[in-house]
Amino acid sequence: MPDRTVLVTGGAGFIGSHTCKALAQAGYTPVCYDNLFRGHASAVKWGPLEIGDILDPLRIAEVLSRYRPMVVIHFAALAYVGESVEGPASYYRTNVIGSHTLLEVMRAHAIGSIVFSSSCATYGVPKSLPISESQPQQPINPYGMTKLIGEKLLIDYAHAYGLRSIGLRYFNAAGSDPDGEIGENHDPETHLIPLVLQAAMGTRPDVTIFGTDHGTPDGTCIRDYVHVSDLAQAHVLALKLLEQGHRQEFFNIGNGGGISVAEIVAASRQVTGRPIEVRNGPRRAGDPAVLVADATKARTMLAWSPKHAEITTMIDHTWNWMLRQNQR
Ligand code: UFG
Repeated sequence: MPDRTVLVTGGAGFIGSHTCKALAQAGYTPVCYDNLFRGHASAVKWGPLEIGDILDPLRIAEVLSRYRPMVVIHFAALAYVGESVEGPASYYRTNVIGSHTLLEVMRAHAIGSIVFSSSCATYGVPKSLPISESQPQQPINPYGMTKLIGEKLLIDYAHAYGLRSIGLRYFNAAGSDPDGEIGENHDPETHLIPLVLQAAMGTRPDVTIFGTDHGTPDGTCIRDYVHVSDLAQAHVLALKLLEQGHRQEFFNIGNGGGISVAEIVAASRQVTGRPIEVRNGPRRAGDPAVLVADATKARTMLAWSPKHAEITTMIDHTWNWMLRQNQR
């Protein structure tokens, strides 16, 4: 096996599949490990697919023995904030026990490097804006807590076992592959931009704005949307930093620009040229009013430089992807 093999858990998911494409373009061979619970086999196009669960140590061991990857990128997780509030048990099981299971099998196989999917949800309600990596991490929902525990595992494994790791704290992943080969395809769909675009497409009657009293200029929540291909590129850069011998780091990955829910709706009307019916609803539990990244550290240490920072580009790429899917 080539020594540029990378095991990508959750590689059939939204961010995972885009990262597999970026890895292949950078000369790596991504091996996707996914149970296809929420991922799609059709999104695995740049390397083999090994079907397996993150809670199954024997299956992970089999795959690690077969491919001997130089590093693991760990996406496999449950990632819906609202669902985690309703049913935390499965979140702690998949995200915490799953990460622990993976780390233990890696340790047994002497695979010493990992890139971990973390989240801005680990910060909770930010103390100040924009959010830098040194801000206190006090999650306000179980999803964020499971990701914070994942980070703590990395820190403790680094001290005790010499595990080298980079944790990327994503802000709001958006957009779709600019070439249209893969795209945002969640089931169930809970994310704002695809829901707004479904309303534009007519596959749903309208979209509900969760809260218009958030204390922001237009009353709706502000988020930092980052193009999934730019996020994917951050993983490639993280691998390179690990290859250079770097021991451990956490990075925010976001554009540093705050965009409100109402602004997303307006931009989507502009991009699609279609009417979008909106309803005003109550706030959603577990939603901070504003999350905006200070990603200076990623820009300097990783030399991360987002190529699709405009929100209209992200919406346009997802819209084109959805139009193509609808024509099938
Ligand atoms: N929103 C609506 N209506 C909807 C859906 C969402 O108004 O129908 C709002 C939300 O309240 C939020 C914003 O749109 O203010 C973005 O919501 P998303 O569900 O698209 O994304 P989240 O901010 O909830 O979640 C994302 C990632 C999580 C991550 C989280 C950190 O999906 O994995 O950011 O806050 F943990």
